[in-house]
Amino acid sequence: MAAGGGGGGRACFVLGASGETGRALLRELLSRRLFARVTLIGRRRLSLPEESGAAVSGFVRVDRDYVAQAAELARAGGCQHFVLQSSRGADLHSPFLYLRVKGEVENLVQAVGFDRCTILRPAVLLCKRQESRPTEWVAQQFLGLVARVFPTAYSVPVETVARAMVATVLQPGEGKVEVLENGAIHELGKAVPQQGA
Ligand SMILES: NC(=O)c1ccc[n+]([C@@H]2O[C@H](COP(=O)([O-])OP(=O)(O)OC[C@H]3O[C@@H](n4cnc5c(N)ncnc54)[C@H](OP(=O)(O)O)[C@@H]3O)[C@@H](O)[C@H]2O)c1
Repeated sequence: MAAGGGGGGRACFVLGASGETGRALLRELLSRRLFARVTLIGRRRLSLPEESGAAVSGFVRVDRDYVAQAAELARAGGCQHFVLQSSRGADLHSPFLYLRVKGEVENLVQAVGFDRCTILRPAVLLCKRQESRPTEWVAQQFLGLVARVFPTAYSVPVETVARAMVATVLQPGEGKVEVLENGAIHELGKAVPQQGA
């Protein structure tokens, strides 16, 4: 997600709005009417009844290259604040491809030079996923139970992530780059301050 000012009021765009977090974010943005314009960028047209409205190389391309290129374009277009959903454990030097690629995309987006860049590192996302991902489903069932005892330790609902994203664009930054780990996402996603954009 990225936000910026402009002549016709504040505007933002959402990359991946058809995803689980993206849909939760879109619901949050539309219900709160925070932005004069919300642009969705994706590869397919969304139907939004409720809102009115492979391969390793493939993974690296989508999760790193597309995101970094989108950030470059956004900056060139005047975007001031870029919010990146990364992952807990993101690390440039990780032996695990997933975490390494997340570390790489974090670095690339930071290097773009936004006035402000917020990086969210959620743990396992809790959601009713439309796409079938059996392994993730099993993990979600287990972590959903664990979350009753340790709500902020191992997982986070996508709605909480979405609220945290909105909260971060509404409040003043604490520096050029902010990194929100899972606990901070829970904290920020509890409630969004009531103010217009
Ligand atoms: N799942 C977890 O537990 C977890 C934990 C921590 C961090 N994360 C990270 O959090 C982020 C969001 O996760 P999520 O589960 O909410 O996402 P998701 O449901 O998997 O959605 C991914 C989004 O990316 C789009 N996309 C995928 N391939 C694309 C392509 N080739 N071209 C254009 N768009 C493409 C999808 O569009 P389509 O709808 O068209 O496919 C969708 O909008 C991801 O970066 C993920 O790695 C996930």
